[in-house]
Amino acid sequence: MLILLHMQDASASALGNVRAEIDRVDRQLVQEIAEREIWVRAAGKLKAMAPAVRDPDRVEQVVQRVRGIAAELDADADVVERTYRAMISAFIDLELGQQGFLDAPVIVPLTVADAGEVLTLQRAAYASEALIYSDPSLPPLVQTLPELVDELTNSVGHKAIRGTRLVGAVRSVIDGDTLRIGRLTVAPDLQGSGLGTALLAAAEADAGPDVTSAALFTGHLSADNLRLYERHGYVEERREDIKPGLTLVHLRKLLP
Ligand SMILES: CC(C)(COP(=O)(O)OP(=O)(O)OC[C@H]1O[C@@H](n2cnc3c(N)ncnc32)[C@H](O)[C@@H]1OP(=O)(O)O)[C@@H](O)C(=O)NCCC(=O)NCCS
Repeated sequence: MLILLHMQDASASALGNVRAEIDRVDRQLVQEIAEREIWVRAAGKLKAMAPAVRDPDRVEQVVQRVRGIAAELDADADVVERTYRAMISAFIDLELGQQGFLDAPVIVPLTVADAGEVLTLQRAAYASEALIYSDPSLPPLVQTLPELVDELTNSVGHKAIRGTRLVGAVRSVIDGDTLRIGRLTVAPDLQGSGLGTALLAAAEADAGPDVTSAALFTGHLSADNLRLYERHGYVEERREDIKPGLTLVHLRKLLP
């Protein structure tokens, strides 16, 4: 019994020593983060627009660089990457807040790294469509994460972000002279505030010079969606019966 107590004391004191070292390193880290903040604030003053603050290319550049440093120092590169992504996201909020941009959604390119959040958003937003068609297994609701990752790898897209939150997304692919737009999605609590329209415009802007029209589809009972698309110049092209109770309305818009 006495030996056991002695061993417990010894391991408690060893853990105490290790924790003291972690506390010491934490102090150094916070000092370094404080210095990073000075430079981030300085960079923020040089950027006039929110998209310049949310510069995804620059984020990837920083992440790849610190992964390289982690490899040199024999540290776990995944831990370093995750720590950096969280830190960069917090600094982006700081910069946006500093410039009064935080509440205004910004539209930036979608990346494969957004797949998890896009899937969550998609499932929340398309629940209303499931109710319209009494069908919980509509494709956007049953799409899996690997399928979405694959789709994002082969398409371009845009996302709307408010603060750190993903509040909207759209994807598109170029198919000959047609830009095929799909999965226009806005967070349920922000629908009706113009985000869908802004994302649709961002998707259309992706069409290169060889693209002459944009095409998309929605269900025949989705009156709100049809009104949105028609208001923005889309014209019904054809109907496609999918199953009893669901017909897809294909619409097309000539691009300038
Ligand atoms: C469709 C959707 C992307 C539109 O985005 P939004 O930000 O709500 O749209 P906007 O604010 O830019 O434009 C408003 C118009 O969108 C349409 N709309 C579609 N669903 C809507 C909703 N739930 N709330 C408000 N407007 C909606 C209406 O035509 C509305 O115009 P109105 O004022 O005449 O009613 C969004 O409502 C959504 O994510 N819906 C669920 C998923 C879905 O059905 N996606 C489209 C698949 S084809």
